[in-house]
Amino acid sequence: MKTDHLTARAETIAASENESLWARTGGSKALYERAVQHMPMGVPSSFQAWDPYPVYLRQGKGSHVVDVDGNEYLDFHNGFGCMIVGHAHPKVAEAITRAAHTGTHFAAPTEATVQFAEIICERFGADSIRFANSGTEATMGAIRVARAATGREHIVKVEGSYHGHHDPVMFSVVPGSDLIGGRDAPSTTPMSTGIPAVMSEYTHVVPFNDLEMLRTLLSERGREIACLILEPVMMNIGICQPEPGYLQGLKDLLHEHGAILIFDEVKSGGTVAYGGAAERYGVRPDLACWAKAICGGTPGAAFGGRADVMDAIGTGAAQQGTFNGNPLIAAAGIATLTEVMTRDAYAYLADIGTRLATGCTKAMDENNIPGHAVDLGAKGCVSYRPTPLRNYRDFLETRPELYLASYPWAMNCGIFMTPGDEEQWTLSVQHTDADIDAYIDQFAAFCSTLAKG
Ligand SMILES: Cc1ncc(COP(=O)(O)O)c(C=O)c1O
Repeated sequence: MKTDHLTARAETIAASENESLWARTGGSKALYERAVQHMPMGVPSSFQAWDPYPVYLRQGKGSHVVDVDGNEYLDFHNGFGCMIVGHAHPKVAEAITRAAHTGTHFAAPTEATVQFAEIICERFGADSIRFANSGTEATMGAIRVARAATGREHIVKVEGSYHGHHDPVMFSVVPGSDLIGGRDAPSTTPMSTGIPAVMSEYTHVVPFNDLEMLRTLLSERGREIACLILEPVMMNIGICQPEPGYLQGLKDLLHEHGAILIFDEVKSGGTVAYGGAAERYGVRPDLACWAKAICGGTPGAAFGGRADVMDAIGTGAAQQGTFNGNPLIAAAGIATLTEVMTRDAYAYLADIGTRLATGCTKAMDENNIPGHAVDLGAKGCVSYRPTPLRNYRDFLETRPELYLASYPWAMNCGIFMTPGDEEQWTLSVQHTDADIDAYIDQFAAFCSTLAKG
């Protein structure tokens, strides 16, 4: 199928589907007009913005959400991957209700805080952890601790990875091809205005799945480098998996130079296996960061790992936060990890995840659509590039116009999706086979409509 034909079809579909979506979401438009009076872009976080306005939700239950116009959707967005338990899960709701009646916050440690720490350490193989309130705070804390433990100031990150919105990691997150630098010299490109230029001198960028570039960097600057932070499986460019030996190779290289390996498991930790990506890919980092799915839809996070590294806290490295590990978050997290997200739950998610990815692959194959589906249990995606991604530069070869047509199409078919091809679907334990089939049916219809003409 010729590229220009597919692009033209995608643009036609996007135009008519967006018209239908806007006709059904007048309440969202009105709320957006109210919201922009008091919040830039009408949203609490720029990642929730959408052109011309986002769909505003009213409620969620199980695998369903309802928008402010009363349209009901099956939720495959699931709060950017936090709602693996599904909405209003009875066990999580009960834990939150109990905490609401016995005190949600003291800024003094409680037994629930201690128990939650024990559970996280046991599950993810950490000696010692500290709590935070978001993925951003968790990666910020881990980098601080790595710098303190090594006495070094420089860090390394992977091109195309997002680790939250603190300055040291806000480089080369989604750089355009004009700003990216050569393949053998990726540039350190700020994602935001407002970041002091000098910060770029302390953050070095390497490509994913490439040990040689890191080896070269370490041989030149190894004594200055405290750590490498990366998502063990990249999840802000669709999904890009590590090649065999890559993660262990990173760890060995970093250790040769006295540097620390940090896994950002903010997205992968609660979703891709019982013990996160470290378990799935069989490599234990020195430090890891967890957030999103571990607290059942409440804003909790943690980071930790090797005791000798975490000991930097208490010998000079500052780590604090008023709400860290409070009894509300701890109750939701304990219920999530012990009562809902059991090993059986991950086996169930593996089944429905494979059903979904297989159905999407079949639909693309039958209609000759240049894409592939990724199956990682609760997480998966369609990327509009025939073969799997190896790194961020491969993501730049995907076809955003196809995603931009599939998004309003899905929404009009009652499938709530992330508005952007850098994201992926998240399934919950409350999704059923019928929910998965509804997704596949609308996607198959989309593929055949796209291929027509
Ligand atoms: C891999 C990764 N790390 C860190 C973060 C930041 O987490 P938060 O938005 O909770 O600050 C995100 C957010 O999407 C993420 O995907």
